[in-house]
Amino acid sequence: MTDLQSIAGGIGKKPYYQDSSTVIYCADNREILSLIPEKSIDLVLTDPPYGVNGGSGTKGLERSNKHNYNTFNDTPENIILEIIPRFRQALGICQRAILTPGSLVCNSYPQPDSIGSLIQWATASMQKWGRCDSQPIFYYGRDPRVGITISFCSFDSKTFDKINGFPCPKPLSVWQKLLLKWSLDGDLILDPFLGSGTTAVAAKKLGRKCIGIEIEEKYCEIAAKRLSQSVMSLEIPQAEKHEGIAPMLMPDKE
Ligand SMILES: C[S@@+](CC[C@H](N)C(=O)[O-])C[C@H]1O[C@@H](n2cnc3c(N)ncnc32)[C@H](O)[C@@H]1O
Repeated sequence: MTDLQSIAGGIGKKPYYQDSSTVIYCADNREILSLIPEKSIDLVLTDPPYGVNGGSGTKGLERSNKHNYNTFNDTPENIILEIIPRFRQALGICQRAILTPGSLVCNSYPQPDSIGSLIQWATASMQKWGRCDSQPIFYYGRDPRVGITISFCSFDSKTFDKINGFPCPKPLSVWQKLLLKWSLDGDLILDPFLGSGTTAVAAKKLGRKCIGIEIEEKYCEIAAKRLSQSVMSLEIPQAEKHEGIAPMLMPDKE
């Protein structure tokens, strides 16, 4: 277990947002990552840009319209040149990591120790072979409860989360399940590609501590608003009920 306040003190930069369990920096993550001591982070949980050039979009659906980052040209080349080196940097300071790399350039990321899937039935964006309804989850290191419990590595989400002003937030319920399974009470979580703050909100609800880094101020603002409205959840046992993708493992009825 690591002391969030002492790491934040060592970083020495003014946070964009801070409460007793969360610190958010509005910065290029490279600057902050180099100031965090090696192995001081229990878990990196992160969802960087995918190199999809704003995505395919689907006409008429507000949340799936094409969007581009202000600060970053979201091409596969830039993921390889800019994003993957930053993820490697984050891997160097953590005990274990969970990454959603997208499918386009996932083979350029460091080799994971395990792979699962995130199935999003309600997704609207398209790829060359149809709906973009699942994507890989890469796991680095090992389950902190290995030998005590057996975890599913794949998750499904049947709903969209509320539109929060960010174009592609990850489902909070899935993020809570990931954190609950692969972090321990009081652990320090890092998300260097925070977006609208889903990792930090999930961490706060589950009694974990979190450092988030996001380069675009408008997304930091959404994250800060979500965090100021979040409290530790009394419904933790609910999130523990992990259904995995068991229904898909049943044989088809003839
Ligand atoms: C796919 S989004 C993350 C979405 C997040 N999981 C959520 O639920 O809201 C990736 C984020 O990484 C941010 N980003 C890209 N390059 C960055 C950098 N060098 N430092 C910090 N953040 C960066 C982008 O601005 C974007 O908000």
